[in-house]
Amino acid sequence: MKDRYAVIGHPVAHSKSPFIHAQFALQTRQDMEYAALLAPLDGFAQTVEQFRAAGGRGANVTLPFKEPAYALCATRSPRAESAGAVNTLIFGAHGVHGDNTDGYGLTRDLVDNLGFALQGRRVLLMGAGGAARGVILPLLERRPECLVIANRTAVKANALAALFDGTPSCADAPVSGCGYVDLAGQRFDLVINATSAGLAGELPALPDGLFAADALAYDMLYGRETPFMRFARAQGAARVADGLGMLVEQAAESFFLWRGVRPDTAPVMAALRAA
Ligand code: ATR
Repeated sequence: MKDRYAVIGHPVAHSKSPFIHAQFALQTRQDMEYAALLAPLDGFAQTVEQFRAAGGRGANVTLPFKEPAYALCATRSPRAESAGAVNTLIFGAHGVHGDNTDGYGLTRDLVDNLGFALQGRRVLLMGAGGAARGVILPLLERRPECLVIANRTAVKANALAALFDGTPSCADAPVSGCGYVDLAGQRFDLVINATSAGLAGELPALPDGLFAADALAYDMLYGRETPFMRFARAQGAARVADGLGMLVEQAAESFFLWRGVRPDTAPVMAALRAA
């Protein structure tokens, strides 16, 4: 029998993970299958248990279950602890281990695919929900000059910054929180949109003049040109990227955790772009 993996979500039919992992498995000759599993909104833990009992070896977790996944794990990686959320489950003899590869996926896409070295750069992270929290530690580990977290509800950005402020991870990279109006007059080398505004076709209320001369604007959404991406182009950002690379890189890191092999992400990204 092939080793079984799955992505668990609600909804889940739209997920690109089955395609991505099938490509990785073909490329690295791993004898495995990877399915999409729809869990009822009140039945995530049961879905995980059933899949595990049926021989599942591990799973990815997508919306809205990343926090419930964190809660059900017996052990967790430091990056999952820091994210407060789990996107990768590993089923072992001693229970379920949880990891979070989202932030790794983002920094890998930024640094290796887009050639944007984060060290010493001024970084703005928009949003203070789960998507933002999941990428903070990996961003800080790359030692930017500063990390500013801005959110429509400023108190949430302050609270999120306070979780990291004063920890060893931000010793060389001060982290602070604010509202969008407080950004007026500041410039950033990298602006990351981790809000869900683009899903509703909306743009956070950003001031003009945010982008430094060679700035990169990055939207964690993919498969669409968001209002933020259009805003960044109009405001003179040198480069604009969507989150497709992050999606493939977080998948590759999950694949590595399960199988111990690193797939080549470039052809999979190219196939998704072509589709
Ligand atoms: P996720 O897990 O995707 O981060 P979330 O926890 O619901 O989802 O967080 C959504 C984020 O998008 C929040 O930062 C939210 O801002 P608020 O905290 O002020 O609600 C942000 N967001 C959603 N729609 C937005 C909009 N139209 N403009 C600005 N920010 C928006």
